[in-house]
Amino acid sequence: MLVLGIETSCDETAVAVTNDNKILADTVSSSVHLHKDFGGVIPEIASRYHVEYINYVLKDALDKAKIGLDKIKLIAVTTRPGLVGALLVGISMAKALSLSHDIPLIGVDHLLAHLYAVFMNGESATFPFIGLVVSGGHTSLFLVKDVDQYRLLGQTLDDAAGEAFDKVAKLLNLGYPGGPIIEKRAASGEVDKSLFSRNSFDETLNFSFSGIKTSVLYYIRDRLKEKNLFKKERSKAGQISRLAARLGNGEIDNIAASFQDSITAILTEKTIAACRQEEVRRLVLGGGVSANTQFRKKIQKAAIENGIELFIPPKRLCLDNAVMVAGLGGALYKKGIKSRLTITAQSTSSYC
Ligand code: KG4
Ligand code: ZN
Repeated sequence: MLVLGIETSCDETAVAVTNDNKILADTVSSSVHLHKDFGGVIPEIASRYHVEYINYVLKDALDKAKIGLDKIKLIAVTTRPGLVGALLVGISMAKALSLSHDIPLIGVDHLLAHLYAVFMNGESATFPFIGLVVSGGHTSLFLVKDVDQYRLLGQTLDDAAGEAFDKVAKLLNLGYPGGPIIEKRAASGEVDKSLFSRNSFDETLNFSFSGIKTSVLYYIRDRLKEKNLFKKERSKAGQISRLAARLGNGEIDNIAASFQDSITAILTEKTIAACRQEEVRRLVLGGGVSANTQFRKKIQKAAIENGIELFIPPKRLCLDNAVMVAGLGGALYKKGIKSRLTITAQSTSSYC
């Protein structure tokens, strides 16, 4: 079935065309360059970018797929969670196309779409599985019994894992988005496991990452003091960030490596614990942080040691895209689920 997917929940304007789980077109235009100077996504800038580019992105996807709108059998669009103004651009486009071309419409959850990405690459994942979504706004563990049967097992109580990468990169004055930059710097650094907390927070399947971020801040401050580069007792993150470069490249690489090692250790431990608790030996990852090579290796090793079958989408499909939206929308539609033209944007997931 030919599905048109539309994704505008954050800073990527994306449209895809899929045929069952086969990708015919996958167009993504990102406004990330416009947010770099702010160290995070500015909702109004993201929304305006979607308004300006969505027509071009749509045309590009249809051209690449060599498909006319008259052939599309379903329009799937992200309706939650995300920035409401940004989501509304994609939803408005989806409704307009649905109405004008008489095509059924389905609204999908962005987090669950991240997990569905694994099916879009010819992978042989099957239900049930434990799903870990690690993105810029979420760190959520699900028990997924079927395409329409999910249960939230745990989530972050403060910062999301991607957000922690972004904030630590900001503290080190390295730029935005932090994940890929930290990963690159970490590759040249040495891990000191004693530097930052590797504590899994508590016995539940919830996460907390704000403590590790604060311990990075204090570590940078103390190292600056030891080097007589910073004297104040109380310190603001902005001041520390402006001086961080003075620690030198080698030390910054080591901080990046140690931070990345701690956060990926916590993610791995909790995720394996979820598999054990639910007695499910199949695991699926999704979301931007699952593009991290060290995390992929670490969780792969842990999965093998625990007899768990692991499925991770290719890196491109870990990041925001419309392929996963089309895929999940198509699978739900085949189960008889569809949406009315009254669907609207929601800032939170209905599952978290
Ligand atoms: O899933 P995603 O593209 O968008 C959201 O739904 O949020 O995830 C974006 C997040 C950002 O916080 C970014 O820093 C992080 O994923 N990220 C990474 C990597 N690539 C992206 N984190 C760690 N390592 C990476 N290679
Ligand atoms: Zn995402």
